Amino acid sequence: MSGVTFELKATDGRARTGVIRTTRGDIRTPAFMPVGTAATVKAMMPESVAATGADILLGNTYHLMLRPGAERIARLGGLHKFMNWDKPILTDSGGFQVMSLSDLRKLTEKGVTFRSHVDGSKHELTPERSMEIQRLLGSDIVMCFDECPALPADRKRIEESMRLSMRWAARSKDAFGDRPGHALFGIQQGGLEPDLREESAKALQEIGFDGYAIGGLAVGEGQEAMFACLDYAPGQLPADRPRYLMGVGKPDDIVGAVKRGVDMMDCVLPSRSGRTGQAWTRRGQVNIKNARHSDDPRPLDEECTCPACRNYSRAYLHHVFRAGEMISGMLLTWHNLHYYQEIMAGMREAIAEGRFDAWEAAFHATREEGDI
Ligand code: GUN
Ligand code: ZN
Repeated sequence: MSGVTFELKATDGRARTGVIRTTRGDIRTPAFMPVGTAATVKAMMPESVAATGADILLGNTYHLMLRPGAERIARLGGLHKFMNWDKPILTDSGGFQVMSLSDLRKLTEKGVTFRSHVDGSKHELTPERSMEIQRLLGSDIVMCFDECPALPADRKRIEESMRLSMRWAARSKDAFGDRPGHALFGIQQGGLEPDLREESAKALQEIGFDGYAIGGLAVGEGQEAMFACLDYAPGQLPADRPRYLMGVGKPDDIVGAVKRGVDMMDCVLPSRSGRTGQAWTRRGQVNIKNARHSDDPRPLDEECTCPACRNYSRAYLHHVFRAGEMISGMLLTWHNLHYYQEIMAGMREAIAEGRFDAWEAAFHATREEGDI
């Protein structure tokens, strides 16, 4: 792997633990990557993100090319310096975000043209331009340019889209070239069709990547269908390379994915829900807006060691949320990211010690449905 290496340390069933070594530091796997779309993990200082236990962040080609522009970030010394984060950064390639966020998209063999969701200006993304933008940003782990239909979609559409993404994967690899210290990951597509997933996995391995992502999931199919796909998809990818499940998920999605052989994940959920008054705890979800928290002197989570839980009551968190104070999003985001990283650390330790099943049983046993 081009100066980025993956060492598998232990497996327990299909669950794996290891470390991805990069020139900017180690990424302990299974890893959860907080999302820093616009060169910030919203409501968090970078040093606070690191303090939650994150080894790596995710950034977005789509958002950064539109604002403030990849060339500008390059002139200012690259994304790490720009946002004051010196650990690894993985960047998504833009195709997926174009399809979900932009206006007036037009998809061709060459790439996609679209109008910015920010100011309506016209742009083009191709595999070649996506590789160039991710190079200008200084991304440590670069993602192939791909495309993915929302589910449910008919088989024909999924098949054609997957084959287009595989042709784009080959062009991405050519355009990426040889960049010591930087890794390029392929993205498997194929919806919920095992044979299309297999075809995609083979096509990617023929091209050859430093790591392999599972794309096209968590797009409306539901947890049961996603887990059914994850029962076979990771096994179609090389065992000696990191496997990254894109855009997932809730705590129980993450645990189920790791159980099925996934090494890396990212999701906006812990940060986004922190800003809408939703907290994730070991006992389940807390909706801090709920009036029943208004006199509650207890912390969000009695066992949590994050600043929001150590220093503040539910009553305070309720008050600052209701008052629209910025510290509300800051504290809940910190808690949520801290909790997600605790889940990852717990799984890494359990896998290393061969007790993942017991860890998973305990994870589910402490959880209650609804607002706790
Ligand atoms: N984020 C979530 N799913 C996907 C996907 O299929 N492709 C890309 N590029 N990003 C994603
Ligand atoms: Zn906490």
